[in-house]
Amino acid sequence: MKADEGAASVVVAIDGPAASGKSTVSRRLAGALGYLYVDSGALYRGVTWAALEQGIPGTDTARVLSCMAACRFAFEVADGAVVFTIDGFRPVGQLRTETVNRNVSPVAAVPEVRVQVVEWLRSLVRFGSLVMEGRDIGTKVFPASPFKFYLDAAPEERARRRHEEMAGQVSAAEVGESLKRRDLIDSRRQMDPLKVAADARVIDSTGMGVDDVVQVILADIEARRACAS
Ligand code: CDP
Repeated sequence: MKADEGAASVVVAIDGPAASGKSTVSRRLAGALGYLYVDSGALYRGVTWAALEQGIPGTDTARVLSCMAACRFAFEVADGAVVFTIDGFRPVGQLRTETVNRNVSPVAAVPEVRVQVVEWLRSLVRFGSLVMEGRDIGTKVFPASPFKFYLDAAPEERARRRHEEMAGQVSAAEVGESLKRRDLIDSRRQMDPLKVAADARVIDSTGMGVDDVVQVILADIEARRACAS
């Protein structure tokens, strides 16, 4: 990447806990703004999935790191998003199984994994302006972004949404427990834990539809732009 490449790109940061509606909202928002959508969690899931494929559990840090170093991650634009391939294969459904869900937070807590993923994420501005969702986008990946949002929702609503998405693969109670476990690891880990950026706008989406949330964010971006000009 050249020194000034991506300098004109704008990044909208959308952070929040698991199943708070970030993906759907971020994708729709990116479409409305004409920006590219980036799912940062997919990269942590990708590292986890690649390791699991080789029989390496998420808790075997040394082997997870060797596997990450040996895999070739490449990025490209598809369907309004920046997506990635691992050794030429683009995992999609493979990233969202319950096995990956169980292993991803321990993997994402490993400092070396975070350093690598943050480097990849920062490099994506070379593709243009982005709506990037995750846990630490406003606090760590793009702390200078003027547009930061933190999406939350009541735990029961998040569990219900995720259970619907997973189409009966696991019970509602298991989904609730799995989210709780991940939230705990994500907010307690030492490096870049999930927390609200001081200058983020917090949106509690409990009982709100996707379009309502997108409208609130678009209005806020417009207001901040008007203030800045
Ligand atoms: O879609 P969901 O909210 O369930 O999770 P995700 O965004 O796919 O992220 C999966 C996991 O990756 C999270 O539980 C975190 O452990 C980790 N993650 C992270 O640490 N930092 C990010 N910026 C994004 C995800």
